[in-house]
Amino acid sequence: MPTRIVVPKEKLTGEKRVALVPAVATRLQKLGADISLLHGAGDNAGYPDAQFSDVEIVKDEAELLKSGDIIFTVQPPTIEQIEQMPEGSILVGYMNPYGDDERIQKICEKKITSFAMELVPRISRAQSMDALSSQANAAGYKAVIMGAEISGKFFPMLSTAAGTVKPAKVLIIGAGVAGLQAIATAKRLGAIVEAYDVRSATKEQVESLGGKFIDTGVQADGEGGYARELTEEEMEKQQEVLNNHIKAADIVITTAAIPGRKAPLIIAKEVVEEMKPGAVVVDLAAETGGNCELTKAGKHVKKKGVTIYGPVNVPSSLANDTSELYSRNLLNFVTLFIKEGEITLDWEDQIIAESALTHGGEIKSKLVLDRQKGDQ
Ligand code: NAI
Repeated sequence: MPTRIVVPKEKLTGEKRVALVPAVATRLQKLGADISLLHGAGDNAGYPDAQFSDVEIVKDEAELLKSGDIIFTVQPPTIEQIEQMPEGSILVGYMNPYGDDERIQKICEKKITSFAMELVPRISRAQSMDALSSQANAAGYKAVIMGAEISGKFFPMLSTAAGTVKPAKVLIIGAGVAGLQAIATAKRLGAIVEAYDVRSATKEQVESLGGKFIDTGVQADGEGGYARELTEEEMEKQQEVLNNHIKAADIVITTAAIPGRKAPLIIAKEVVEEMKPGAVVVDLAAETGGNCELTKAGKHVKKKGVTIYGPVNVPSSLANDTSELYSRNLLNFVTLFIKEGEITLDWEDQIIAESALTHGGEIKSKLVLDRQKGDQ
């Protein structure tokens, strides 16, 4: 029997994405897989059932999940969904590996082999599978559009019969995948863009996109190409330089994150109070606590004329394109282990080994085990 990949509809409120788009379904069929989709699973992303040719459309979710050798999801599945998955099946999607111990436990009990997209290593060979990057890219783009929507200012310089309007000053804090896309987007709209990050490699990347890099003299390169947390002293040094740039900006987009940790606090309440009236902060780190002290996830907060917006699940707001990119990430990932319709997991493969959250009733990920030990 060929491998069957099944795709339920996302359950999380506000999640519009779907883990499979029609073009990718066709590619998976070429790998020899059969595919089943829950009725209407792609509707909110602009992929109605009728666009999926040769895909079995199933009305009942329990029946769908029961038949899966591989289950594709965007958000981590609910406990109820996990209960309906067959023992020994393979689950691929976001798994929230740094939280959610109850869910991880349930996945273990069912002896499901789960692969967490958050754990895909950041190596060249895995770039086409890197969902964190494909989705962060979308978030960076959309954050600028959101900032432009809230702000009362034009981004470009405008010369009109009534006089000249100066370009907006945009500051991007955190120049990872989301931040770099935010820089590129703000530049395309004509703003003057400054950016800051603690990793030394980012200066050149910021400048190559036409942004001005702010040097605070603080460098905090951590493991695996990520940033590390700053010491108190470093934080003070960073703040001293950065605060003046924050106060001068019309729009600040913050994206700073440390994997598995609460977001670093970079904009204090007192600094917001000294920002220009009408200025906007879009805090992409809202879901992990926010880079601004005043951020409230999902809310617009007003303080002395400044708006602080902490959007949640930004990639879902571009569900048509983000579903396509995410779906391609999953395709490239399962191509590692579906050969002529059969599943063969090679545990010597770094991508498979490091992306695995659970297998055979146990947690496989060293990162997750270390985190759990640290929590005790
Ligand atoms: P992320 O979402 O974890 O963090 C966003 C940014 O915040 C990072 O650039 C980080 O340096 C910065 N940050 C953390 N603390 C900060 C602070 N206190 N002040 C200012 N900035 C702060 O990062 P993301 O976007 O997921 O990428 C991180 C790394 O992964 C980068 O080194 C990137 O080059 C690498 N990467 C590698 C890929 C590959 O080779 N396949 C693909 C994508 C990313």
